Amino acid sequence: MTRFSQSVSALRSSAIRDLMSLATRPDMISFAGGMPDNELFPIHEVQEIVDNLSVKEQQVAMQYGPTTGYPPLLEALGEWLRKKGFPMDTNKLIITTGSLQAINIWAKMFIDPGDVVLTENPAFIGALSAFGSYMPTIHGINMDGHGILIEPLKEALKLDPKFLYITPTFHNPAGLTYSPERRRELLDVMNATEVPILEDDAYGELWFDEEDKQHIVPLKVQSEKEQQICYTGSFSKIFGPGMRLGWMLVGEEFYRKAELCKQCIDACSPTFTQVLAHRFLVSGQLDSYVASVRSIYHKRCEYMVDAIKRYFPSEASFVEPKGGFYIWVKLPDGIDEMELLKEVIAEGAVFVVGSTFDPQGASNGYIRVSYCNTAEDKIEKGIKIIGDVMKKMMK
Ligand SMILES: Cc1ncc(COP(=O)(O)O)c(C=O)c1O
Repeated sequence: MTRFSQSVSALRSSAIRDLMSLATRPDMISFAGGMPDNELFPIHEVQEIVDNLSVKEQQVAMQYGPTTGYPPLLEALGEWLRKKGFPMDTNKLIITTGSLQAINIWAKMFIDPGDVVLTENPAFIGALSAFGSYMPTIHGINMDGHGILIEPLKEALKLDPKFLYITPTFHNPAGLTYSPERRRELLDVMNATEVPILEDDAYGELWFDEEDKQHIVPLKVQSEKEQQICYTGSFSKIFGPGMRLGWMLVGEEFYRKAELCKQCIDACSPTFTQVLAHRFLVSGQLDSYVASVRSIYHKRCEYMVDAIKRYFPSEASFVEPKGGFYIWVKLPDGIDEMELLKEVIAEGAVFVVGSTFDPQGASNGYIRVSYCNTAEDKIEKGIKIIGDVMKKMMK
């Protein structure tokens, strides 16, 4: 018999994935993906950058690079973050192969089998899987419309956790953003402990309203004890996930361990895409590109919110996102999310069931619908399909 490792054997096989494989009809309206729209990628800008690389840059691009990242990109990204208020003098950057790799590196740095790890509930499935492969006990903490609940967090801290993983801004899947008060409360509680925080900010640039910017200041920027925090960011939603580039910003102690971990995972992130990201950033194109996609995602979000209000039963509820990609809908009582998914797929639309994001995979009566990857006419049609099936199931 083949003897896989315990950690691999523990990975969840999923009934959901089987269902999703039915959702491949070409006319299927998908609200399932968390990826940017292909039509929105800056392909002309990338083409121009490639065409203008010197021979020397092309050679560098094809070569291995330093484990912690392509130095010109580290410098440019460091400056970009410094302007946003990050404490660059007391921290170091590591370029990672997507921010999911940063999360994996963090998991490798901290988790021994049986350790307690705290996450929000719901939480990003990629992080849950990354943690899960090191066999911890994952303790999920519920949220309300303002962020993670503080009293349950205090209780959970008694479990002697290795770290707390959170996504305070434009949460995946919950679509919510921690209020300034909740950020403060969270920091007050965490600052009184030595428990490290992994702050995932994959969507932080995708705000909809300029005035909200002041409310989404990363914890890493605000905290009096910022060395406690590992901040992760990503080029995936602001350039392209195919670049496979993200970063982690950490103090010296975490930096040394993270570099060692990354060395044995992939030695370095793709130099080729780091060269492209460097040029994209220093030319100012990154900022103008993000500004242009922000308004498109904003419009799509408004469109979906409006369609949900018109087509979903009034018993379904949700928090209106202020940025990011997702709406997290609480289903009316008595609707089974898997049954709903099955029927909605049969009608030609697809979403992700809430249990996907529960640390224990438990059913929670929620669904995640994303508006990032669907044009407006299809949003209306797909949301109507889901709403009609819900109403039918309520009869
Ligand atoms: C909350 C969150 N964090 C991290 C990631 C990982 O992104 P990437 O590895 O592409 O940077 C994602 C991807 O969807 C995400 O939703």
